[in-house]
Amino acid sequence: MGGGPVSNIPLCVPEIRGNEWLYIKDCLDTNWVSSVGEYVNRFESSFANYLGVRHAVACINGTAAIHISLLLLGVQSEDEVIIPALSFVAPANAVRYLGAWPVFIDVDPNSWQMDPNKLVEFLMNECDWVDGKLINRHTVRQIKAVLPVHILGHPVDMDPILEIAGKFDLRVIEDATESLGAFYKKRKVGTLGDIACFSFNGNKLITTGGGGMLVTNDESLAKRARYLITQAKDDQLEYIHNEVGYNYRLSNIQAAMGLAQMEKLDEYIEAKRKLALRWNEGLSSLPGVVCPISAKWAKSVFWLYTILINKDKYGIGSRELLKELNDSGIQARPFWHPLHLLKPFKNSYSYKIEIANRLYSEGLSLPSSVGLKQEEQDKVIEVICRLKKEE
Ligand SMILES: Cc1ncc(COP(=O)(O)O)c(C=O)c1O
Repeated sequence: MGGGPVSNIPLCVPEIRGNEWLYIKDCLDTNWVSSVGEYVNRFESSFANYLGVRHAVACINGTAAIHISLLLLGVQSEDEVIIPALSFVAPANAVRYLGAWPVFIDVDPNSWQMDPNKLVEFLMNECDWVDGKLINRHTVRQIKAVLPVHILGHPVDMDPILEIAGKFDLRVIEDATESLGAFYKKRKVGTLGDIACFSFNGNKLITTGGGGMLVTNDESLAKRARYLITQAKDDQLEYIHNEVGYNYRLSNIQAAMGLAQMEKLDEYIEAKRKLALRWNEGLSSLPGVVCPISAKWAKSVFWLYTILINKDKYGIGSRELLKELNDSGIQARPFWHPLHLLKPFKNSYSYKIEIANRLYSEGLSLPSSVGLKQEEQDKVIEVICRLKKEE
């Protein structure tokens, strides 16, 4: 690793050092720059092969992939979809695009992912079957699907979620955006539900500038996804559209970048895991700092390495530490604001949320770029150790 003074350290920036130039130049040279082309097919195949799923459908971004997944599974206006309270906002927004409502479930205190026990409790105790429909007793809306989000690189405990979803006839969409390559009990995330979605925006494990992928083993769902993302075109020549469709296709240029990034994915994951080990070595014995766990059934990719700051033990709170880090040229950021507290979702039902609120007040994500240098990481560790107040 190169020496020299450490200046600003960003949170998470792309790593572009493979065949991106070659493949994108090929698009430009051959004039295949738009939403069809060889690279779209190659990126989709490479992604499907990597996960071991039958179908991968490239989309313009991850939010669009979630929107289409919800449509595919029949979510309609005034239905409900269960999602975790601690997540980036995209899945909740996608639910609202359809006029449906998220129901927020708390997260587990150890894994920080959707809490399967609270999900089971909610479904068993707060819902009723009415005329063959599963109805949330509090809102009198029909629940159609569960949408666990594998946040920060760590998988959700999926088996109990799949089991309860099976019992209650609910479809499962995984938002695996932040955890590409992570394993849940020897199975890759994104292969466990009916459909899974990924994003390739700039800070994700691999990036296409902006982009997304919808994956499924169900051929009819994949076929319909392609139809819906291509303006629902029924006749190529006469421009017949029998349904409202969407212009959600990924361009060949972006797919070319995605293919090049896929070639490096395993290397990038390895780099993130090494960074996590070094963070653990540097921070885990510091009183008041809680490092992320990898549950025994999980193999995390540590997309964004996130710690909790216990103010009583550490001496200052997460937001004061955040300011100090920023003042030292280190970009860090808190967890997302718990979704159930955001304005657009105030009419949504939320079930016993406590942990998400605490994690939000204590959590800080640290610089996690694949290319983060050792001396940069050392600087962050040094600042966090130095700011700990003596007891
Ligand atoms: C969990 C999660 N879901 C969905 C998205 C949305 O993806 P995009 O920005 O590609 O629409 C993101 C991040 O951007 C995310 O972190």
